[in-house]
Amino acid sequence: MKMQNAKLKTTYLKDYQLPDFAIHSIDLHVELNEDKTIVHSLLHVERRLPQQTTPLVLHGEGLKLLSLRLDEKPLAQTEYEQTLQSLTIKSVPHSFQLEIVTEILPQKNTSLSGLYRSGKLFCTQCEAEGFRRITYYLDRPDVMSLFTTTIVADKAKYPILLSNGNKIEAGELSENRHYVKWQDPFKKPSYLFALVAGDLVKISDNYQTQSGRNVALEIYVEAQNKDKTDYAMQALKHAMLWDEKAYGREYDLDVYMIVAVNDFNMGAMENKGLNIFNSKYVLASEKTATDVDFQNVEAVIGHEYFHNWTGNRITCRDWFQLSLKEGLTVFREQQFSASMGSPTVKRITDARIIRTRQFAEDAGPMAHPVRPESYIEINNFYTSTVYNKGAEVIRMLHTLFGQAGFRKGMDLYFERFDGQAVTIEDFVKALADANGTDLNQFFRWYNQAGTPLVNVKEAYDAKLKQFKLTLTQQCPKTPDNLSKEPFIMPIKVALYDEKGTKIALECKSNLHKTSEGSFLIVDKETNEFIFENVPIKPVPSLLGNFSAPVKLSYPYTEAELVLLMLSDEDLFNRWDASQRLGTKAIKSLMKDHLADKSLVVPTTLIEAYRELLQQDIPEPALLAQLITIPSFHYVAENLEIIEVDALITARKTLVEVFAQSLEEELAKVYQACQEQDDGSLKNTSMSHRALKNTCLYYLVKAGAKWLKLAQAQYEKARNMTDKMGALSAINHSTSTLRQTLFDDFYKTYQKEDLVVNKWLALQACADLPNVLENINKLLKHEGFDIANPNKVYSLINTFAMSNPERFHDDEGKGYEFIALRVIELNARNPQVAARLLEGLTQWKRLDATHSALMKNALIKIESSGDLSEDVFEIVTKSLK
Ligand code: BES
Ligand code: ZN
Repeated sequence: MKMQNAKLKTTYLKDYQLPDFAIHSIDLHVELNEDKTIVHSLLHVERRLPQQTTPLVLHGEGLKLLSLRLDEKPLAQTEYEQTLQSLTIKSVPHSFQLEIVTEILPQKNTSLSGLYRSGKLFCTQCEAEGFRRITYYLDRPDVMSLFTTTIVADKAKYPILLSNGNKIEAGELSENRHYVKWQDPFKKPSYLFALVAGDLVKISDNYQTQSGRNVALEIYVEAQNKDKTDYAMQALKHAMLWDEKAYGREYDLDVYMIVAVNDFNMGAMENKGLNIFNSKYVLASEKTATDVDFQNVEAVIGHEYFHNWTGNRITCRDWFQLSLKEGLTVFREQQFSASMGSPTVKRITDARIIRTRQFAEDAGPMAHPVRPESYIEINNFYTSTVYNKGAEVIRMLHTLFGQAGFRKGMDLYFERFDGQAVTIEDFVKALADANGTDLNQFFRWYNQAGTPLVNVKEAYDAKLKQFKLTLTQQCPKTPDNLSKEPFIMPIKVALYDEKGTKIALECKSNLHKTSEGSFLIVDKETNEFIFENVPIKPVPSLLGNFSAPVKLSYPYTEAELVLLMLSDEDLFNRWDASQRLGTKAIKSLMKDHLADKSLVVPTTLIEAYRELLQQDIPEPALLAQLITIPSFHYVAENLEIIEVDALITARKTLVEVFAQSLEEELAKVYQACQEQDDGSLKNTSMSHRALKNTCLYYLVKAGAKWLKLAQAQYEKARNMTDKMGALSAINHSTSTLRQTLFDDFYKTYQKEDLVVNKWLALQACADLPNVLENINKLLKHEGFDIANPNKVYSLINTFAMSNPERFHDDEGKGYEFIALRVIELNARNPQVAARLLEGLTQWKRLDATHSALMKNALIKIESSGDLSEDVFEIVTKSLK
C-alpha cells in the first residue's frame, strides 16, 4: 500500500514479539460527510508487562491527526511523534485512556482498503492492514478488543448504517442527520471491523440454531438487485446447518448481515456479524447467473460463514499464520460444497487450481511455504499456496486421522483456543494430541516450499506373484535455497487387472486401510511397498482423489490409462487418467511439431474417447470433465521448458481432431442432455447442462454447420448458463454470427453490470487475431471502468490468464499490454495491480524468445517509477 520511497521493509516471522499493550475496548464515532470523514476513537489501553517503559507505537496511514488526549488531557506536540506510518506516544502510564480524532478522505480512496466509496455507499475493507487507514491503532491480529461503533450520517443519503454486532441505539440528529450505535460483544482484531452506510434494501429471513436460538439473517443490496438474493440466503442457511452437523458449531450473534458492494478487491470478507461481499458472490438469478456462478455464490457464502469459527473466534496471532484461518476455511468450504453438489466434480475443480495456479507459484519466483517466513507486502501472500495448498495439507490430516479422528482434533482445537489469536503449531498440536500422535514430520508441509515430485517404479514377479512399488520423492529447489527433508503423505492406491477388476491388497508395510480406500504412507526419500498374491501384472491407480498435493509420475502405457479412464472406481482418478492421456498426446504432438513433422493424433486415443462417450456414466458433469482436453496451463506444469508455440499448436490440433472425429457421438450426447435438462437448478439439471455445453463447444470446433445449433441455443436459452454456453462456443469463430450475438448480448444485458463483465471476459479470451485491438477498444467502452476491480479482472486478467495464444504473442505485445495496465493501476490500486502480475512471473520457464520478451515487460514495470510495495515485491522477486 505504502509507496516505495516510504522505505521498503521486510517483515520476518522470526522477529515476532507479543504486543507491549493490550487494548481492552475501542469506542468509535464515525461522522460521514460528502467531503471528509471524522473519526473519534476512544481506547482503553493497558501495558501488558507493568515493568516495561516502552513508548506506545500505533499504526496509521494517510491520516490527518486533529486531536490527541491522554486521560482527558491534550498532548503537546513534543509528547508524540508522527511518521507516514505511525504515531508514537513517548511516555504513557500503566493503564490509560486515549482519545484520538482523525480526518480521512474516503471519497479519494481508490485503493479500496480502509474506508472507501463504492458508488453511493461508504464501506470498509480492513484485512489485512486497512484499519490503520481509518484511525491510529495497534492494527495487528493479536490485539483483540471490544468494539462499539457509532455512525453518523445524512439520513436521506444513508438511511442504512451498519457495523459489527448488535444495534444498541439509534436516533435523529439536527440537520437531517441520524446515528446508529453498534456493539460487538465478542473481542476481535481490527481486521474484522466493518462499517457500511448507504441507501440499501434489506432482505430478511431467519434461522433457528441447533440449541434453539433465533438468528436474524439480513442481506443488504441496492434496490435494483433485490430479486437476486434468494440463492445466497438459502446458501447461508445451508452453511449454518452444515457447520452444526459436521463440526457441532453454531452461530453466536443474534444477527448475521451480508452486504453486496460493487467495488471490492477480493471475493468477500468475513467481518464479524457483517460480511461484506463482492456483489459477484451474492447476486444471482437464473437470468443473470450461470450454474457455476450459483455454485460460487454458495461456496463463498459458506467460506465466509465458516470463518466465524475458523478465523474470527479463533484468529491468527500474526499474518504468517494466515493459512490457519484460510487453508482451514477453504477445506471446510470444500467439504460443504461437496455435500451440496457433486463431490467428484468439486474435487476435480480444486485439483485443477492446485495443478495449474499453485504448482506454477511453487515453481516460480514467488514460491513460499504454506506458512511464509517473510514478506514485504502481506497482501501479496493471499496466495494459492496459503489458500489452496493450505487446504490440501488439512485434507491430508483428515485422511490420516479419518473423519472421526479429525473431528476429535477440531473439537480440541476449539476447546483450547476459543477467543484467542494462535499459531499453526497450536492447531497442528491440537490435532496431534487428540489423536495421541506427534506431527513433527508432517509440519514440514507448513515450512517447506515447492511441489514434491513422487516418482514411482514398478516391478512384477510372476513366479512369486509379487508386485513391488518403489516411491521416491524429491522436492525441487525454491528461491529460499533451503534443502528439503522428506514429507509424510498418504498416497491412495488400488490395483486393477486387465479387465478393470479390483485386486485385493495384501501388503505388510505401511498400508493404511480405511472406509475411504487404501493409502500408502510415504515418509522417506524412498519407500518400498510389496503387494502379495497379485495374480497378474496389475495396473495401479495412484494418488486417488488427489490424496496429496504432489506431482506423481508413473510409466503408464496408453492402454493402462484408457483402462483407468473407463473403469477406475475412484472417479477422480478416471479424470486424472483422462488428463494424463491428453497431456501425453499433446507432449508427443509438441515433439513432432518441433521436429517439423506432421501432427497425427493416435486413433487409439480417439477410440478410447469414443467408448467413453458411448458409456453410461452416472454423472454427466463428470463426463464433461473427462472429455475436457487439458488446458495450456495444465500441460505447462508438466513441461521442463514451455515451448509456447508448440504447445498451442499441439493442443489445438488435438482439440480439432477430437471434435471432428467424434462429431456424431458429441451430437448425440448433446441431444440426450438437452432432453434431460428441465432448466431447473437441481444438481442433475446443472450436470446435464455442463455436459451439453461442453459438447456444443466441440461441435462448433467440428465444423461451421454447428453454428446454427449454437445460435438456436442462444436464442432459446431459458437461463444464463445456456446463453453463455452458446456464446462461449461461438467465441472463437470467425463467422459474422459471432459479432451479431455479442452485440445482441450487450444490448440485452447492458444494465446488468455482472453480466456485462461476462461479456468483457469472453472477448478477452477469444482465440482470434485481433483480440488485443478489441481489448484496447473495450478499455474505453462504457461497460468498462478501470476503477472497478471486477472489470479489471474480467477484461485484463482474463486476457493474461485465459488467452495463452494472444498473451504469449510472438512480438511480446500481450506482455507489454499487461505491463502497461500494471503501471496504470500501480498508484490507483496497488492490490489489483499486483494481481495482474501473476502471468508475468513465469518467464524463466518459457522458451528463449518468450522468456526474453516477458522479462522485458517486467523491466519496463520496474523502471516505470514509484512502485507500490505490492508491485515492487513481485516484480523484483521475479527479476532476481
Ligand atoms: N479474508 C478473506 C478476504 C480477504 C483476503 C480480505 C485478503 C483482504 C485481503 C476471505 O475470507 C477470503 O478468503 N475470500 C476469498 C474467497 C474465498 C471463497 C476463497 C476471496 O476474496 O478471494
Ligand atoms: Zn477466507
